[in-house]
Amino acid sequence: MSFTADSLLLFGATGDLAQRMLLPSLCALGADGLISPNLKIIGTARQDLDDAGYRNVARAALEKYLPAERRGSMAEFLNRLHYQPLDANDISGFTALADKVGPIGEGLAIFLSTAPGLFEPTIAGLSASGLAGDRVRIGLEKPLGTDLESSRHINDAVASAFPEDRTFRIDHYLGKETVQNLLALRFANILFEPLWNAAHIDHVQITVAETVGLESRVGYYDGSGALRDMVQNHMLQLLALVAMEPPANFDATAIRDEKVKVLRSLRYVAGEESVTGQYRAGAISGQPVPGYDDELGKDSDTETFVAIKAHVDNWRWKGVPFYLRTGKRLPERVTEIVVQFRPVPHSIFASKAAKTVPNKLVIGIQPEENITLQVMAKVPGLDRQGIRLRPVELNIAMSDVFAGPVKRIAYERLLLDLIEGDQTLFVRRDEVEAQWDWIDAIRAGWTEHGITPKTYNAGSWGPSAAIALAERDGVTWHE
Ligand code: BG6
Repeated sequence: MSFTADSLLLFGATGDLAQRMLLPSLCALGADGLISPNLKIIGTARQDLDDAGYRNVARAALEKYLPAERRGSMAEFLNRLHYQPLDANDISGFTALADKVGPIGEGLAIFLSTAPGLFEPTIAGLSASGLAGDRVRIGLEKPLGTDLESSRHINDAVASAFPEDRTFRIDHYLGKETVQNLLALRFANILFEPLWNAAHIDHVQITVAETVGLESRVGYYDGSGALRDMVQNHMLQLLALVAMEPPANFDATAIRDEKVKVLRSLRYVAGEESVTGQYRAGAISGQPVPGYDDELGKDSDTETFVAIKAHVDNWRWKGVPFYLRTGKRLPERVTEIVVQFRPVPHSIFASKAAKTVPNKLVIGIQPEENITLQVMAKVPGLDRQGIRLRPVELNIAMSDVFAGPVKRIAYERLLLDLIEGDQTLFVRRDEVEAQWDWIDAIRAGWTEHGITPKTYNAGSWGPSAAIALAERDGVTWHE
């Protein structure tokens, strides 16, 4: 049923995500007039606060995480906020929560950003207290389980109260402008699609590099690791957007149908096609940083880096490797997709100085949004030995082309879509489960072959084995 929610219920309302992303996003949406002035926001978490106490938490978060020019009237925003303390394991508390939410008018959107163990009791509490009717939709923040089985368990619990068309699984990468721009680049231009296949593409690289370490997420991250934290969700979504067939239209079903086909075509990764690493002490931008074990305060086998050679087993991508790598404490923060084209079939240029370098498309997702196409050009001059060629870059810096619009937080888009009920940028159950299926097989391979993380120095591009993984195929990681 389509409706625009007029109240929003946030679980995990005092948590890190709420403070850093959700409250700032909601405040900015309010300041820009993108959500109704009547939208009522109710926060809930374990902490014992009243409305005034929560507004203080929110004010501090906004001052810290939202630039002053995007805040609009903070007083107006804070007045929308209400709070109800809740222990999600105690079902009796949900009655008071439902009272605080009040009658469901146009509709209620719920955002669940809690520990995975609380999903089930929360769903049970929502159902029991009348907060799961057909004018209620639910947004689920990761981690949605730790493997296929636990993810199915959570999905079943959610499905018992919310049908799929009212379930919104969040992958915040899909809220990034630049990720959505991938669809525009691929499907609003005639240029790329005819070449977008194994006949013309040699390989694809997807890198999500971070400079941060554990941050304050010790408990969560050590139980997760880079594969489940980053590859299972964000990187596989990027891969699916790069590899999918053109959807018939820009709607939730058409797009997700095409993505899931790619995810189901992923070949299980062989042992030698993945490398894991864990950072030791080192330096980033000249600043010394401790090793993972030191940050954690104990020894651990959790990987903070992973590189994988993936294959999409279908007609379009036959024989085209997708090299994925992600890690913490790498030299720079960069997310990019590199599409490496094949060489020209025959070079007409005989001279040594006219060696052709295959074309390359680099899609920079963050921190800068740049689209760069490397093409060959003639070096100007009257060369007696014959024509000289050199690769040059056609470079589109999106921030120059679109200087006007503000840089939005990915959650602004996603919260707005959750409130308004557009599922296009949310992950469907079959996608999540296909993602887990592939990830579980990788982890099983690590266990079977006793693969543990190799060390790398903080500030380097990961263990040398990751470089070798690509170099074995004559491929160099793009830097
Ligand atoms: C989160 C991961 O999903 O994405 C974090 O849990 C990671 O470990 C973060 O740091 C990266 O997001 P972004 O938007 O900064 O690239």
